[in-house]
Amino acid sequence: MFFPSSFLAVAIASLVSTATAAPPALPSIAVLKLRIEGLNSTIYEGPIATYGHNVTTASSGNVSFHCDGTNYHVNPTPGPTATSALDDAAHLAQFTWDGNAWTKYDDIFITRIGKDTNNTSQFWGILLGYQYTSVGGCQQRVKNGDDLLFAFDAFSKDYFLKLEAPLVAKVGVPVQFNVTDGMSGVVVGGAVVGGQTSDAEGHVTLTFDKPGVHTFKAEQTNAIRSNAVVIAVSP
Ligand SMILES: *[C@@H]1O[C@H](CO)[C@@H](O)[C@H](O)[C@H]1NC(C)=O
Ligand SMILES: *[C@@H]1O[C@H](CO)[C@@H](O)[C@H](O)[C@H]1NC(C)=O
Ligand SMILES: *[C@@H]1O[C@H](CO)[C@@H](O)[C@H](O)[C@H]1NC(C)=O
Ligand SMILES: *[C@@H]1O[C@H](CO)[C@@H](O)[C@H](O)[C@H]1NC(C)=O
Ligand SMILES: *[C@@H]1O[C@H](CO)[C@@H](O)[C@H](O)[C@H]1NC(C)=O
Ligand SMILES: *[C@@H]1O[C@H](CO)[C@@H](O)[C@H](O)[C@H]1NC(C)=O
Repeated sequence: MFFPSSFLAVAIASLVSTATAAPPALPSIAVLKLRIEGLNSTIYEGPIATYGHNVTTASSGNVSFHCDGTNYHVNPTPGPTATSALDDAAHLAQFTWDGNAWTKYDDIFITRIGKDTNNTSQFWGILLGYQYTSVGGCQQRVKNGDDLLFAFDAFSKDYFLKLEAPLVAKVGVPVQFNVTDGMSGVVVGGAVVGGQTSDAEGHVTLTFDKPGVHTFKAEQTNAIRSNAVVIAVSP
């Protein structure tokens, strides 16, 4: 699922109306980029507006659990968190997630997003700015403009692919796409973009024969698939 910015207006409007109904103060809201990469597909990719709030999970008996960064006394004041963003995206885009309350860390261990459930060797990981977070998702505060990623099997992959391309192209004029590892910044050869494989410099060159708007992701065995790039091709 790919969500255009128009979702943002709706998301903010609904948050603000909820917020005004909940005295005493407006919660602090963050608007960030959220991506959820499941086993075989992207579960969510787009902007999300979130604030710190309680969440419930079926595996924890649907008991309300705080998730506003004050968990485990990591932050002194409440605010938006990684897991509040996941929960708000789930409501917006109508997917579900599950997790176990983890009393030792006063956090929720995420076990399932969409239909992808962890087992003893593959787990959901949380990355902020392409780096693993050092604390759980209800402790991890997020802020405006952050790049937040939930990735299935995040701890045994070689790369977290990152794709860059120009925003526009012309029919018949080759366009260069660049594939890198978001975590380390190294270029990645052998990734597939639009049916072509990236070379040793991480480059893929595509030429379009028709005008239109195209969306691409880079994929590679044993890597987390990339962000989507949208490219508008003019005649
Ligand atoms: C994921 O894709 C693999 C093949 O690429 C397939 O064998 C498997 O059934 C798929 N799993 C799910 C949960 O869709
Ligand atoms: C938790 O909520 C889910 C979804 O609403 C429901 O199917 C499940 O039975 C509930 N579990 C408990 C223990 O209340
Ligand atoms: C939020 O969860 C905490 C437990 O983590 C609970 O003490 C508190 O009452 C809940 N707040 C709401 C508004 O449900
Ligand atoms: C864990 O789940 C993945 C994806 O569904 C599967 O490919 C893998 O074989 C499972 N591993 C174990 C140990 O069950
Ligand atoms: C998922 O991970 C948790 C935490 O390590 C573990 O307790 C649980 O057994 C895993 N689930 C499965 C189905 O293996
Ligand atoms: C791709 O990388 C080349 C250098 O290898 C750089 O000149 C170009 O601007 C990059 N393109 C994009 C869209 O980032």
